[in-house]
Amino acid sequence: MTKQSLQSPKPLPFTLTDGTKVLLRPVRPEDRARLENGVAALSYESRYFRFFTSVARLSDQRLRLLSEVDQQNHVAWIALDASDPKHPGLGVGRFIRSSEDPKVAEAAFAVIDAYQRRGLGTILLAVLYVMAEARGVQVLRAIILSENTIVSNWWRNLGAADSWVSGEYRLDLSVCYNAALLPRTRSGENLGHAIEAVQALVRGQEANVSRERRNNMQLVLTDEEKTEVLELVREEFEEIQTELHHTKNPGYRDTLKRRHVVLEGLLKRLQTDTGG
Ligand SMILES: CC(C)(COP(=O)(O)OP(=O)(O)OC[C@H]1O[C@@H](n2cnc3c(N)ncnc32)[C@H](O)[C@@H]1OP(=O)(O)O)[C@@H](O)C(=O)NCCC(=O)NCCS
Repeated sequence: MTKQSLQSPKPLPFTLTDGTKVLLRPVRPEDRARLENGVAALSYESRYFRFFTSVARLSDQRLRLLSEVDQQNHVAWIALDASDPKHPGLGVGRFIRSSEDPKVAEAAFAVIDAYQRRGLGTILLAVLYVMAEARGVQVLRAIILSENTIVSNWWRNLGAADSWVSGEYRLDLSVCYNAALLPRTRSGENLGHAIEAVQALVRGQEANVSRERRNNMQLVLTDEEKTEVLELVREEFEEIQTELHHTKNPGYRDTLKRRHVVLEGLLKRLQTDTGG
């Protein structure tokens, strides 16, 4: 997966365990109102676990920070209901690279309560995992309240190491995808499948982008260069005509004839282009 993976991709389609179709895409500045509405739609407990505060409205500065992200050091993805993409958003996952250690990034998630336990948290984590790996992040760190047993159980089942550092409860998940290294727990298997699905979708998009780039690629020459190329092609064309006139070898003659056709076409195009 390239370092520049998914700078401005088409949304990635997924199906939750209950059949709900969702679209995941990077957060954009215009998602600010969506994030604001999403925070207000979280239950008291979910908001408390995510933001460590029960306040339903985030400050303008915080909302700007959460929506205006560079997708390199601060990567954020939003999940939308595919049948209603104007919906406030079903969940958000993000990571912010540590300024002290760029190989570590702090991850945070929230899924609207009505959509929890359908696999969306796992899909958001898989997207972050793939984006982290492409950007050289080696550890995703969740800093959570110790009473948030849903996340501590979930991440420990994924093989994350937990520790208390300076009064913070940390869960460190290694980022280096190898299906054989993920724990053989239900959480590990679910994450493995989700990572593979994300990788396949990202690869598909990257292949489409390079195909498009190749199709759009044009050789741009100055007028002087075009005249030089025209001269070279004309010389080659005349040499082939002379060779064709003299050769008695049928195989060589066929090769020369094929090159003659190609150069004739090229010569005509260059003559039209240069007016020569
Ligand atoms: C953490 C959170 C994002 C998970 O989202 P989700 O969409 O429910 O995630 P999933 O459905 O993929 O479930 C992930 C795992 O957690 C388990 N889980 C989720 N909700 C659970 C619950 N209420 N009770 C027990 N386990 C639960 C799931 O069973 C699953 O484990 P599995 O893989 O072994 O089956 C969501 O609970 C949430 O938004 N919580 C509030 C905010 C928060 O705590 N954020 C994290 C701190 S930054």
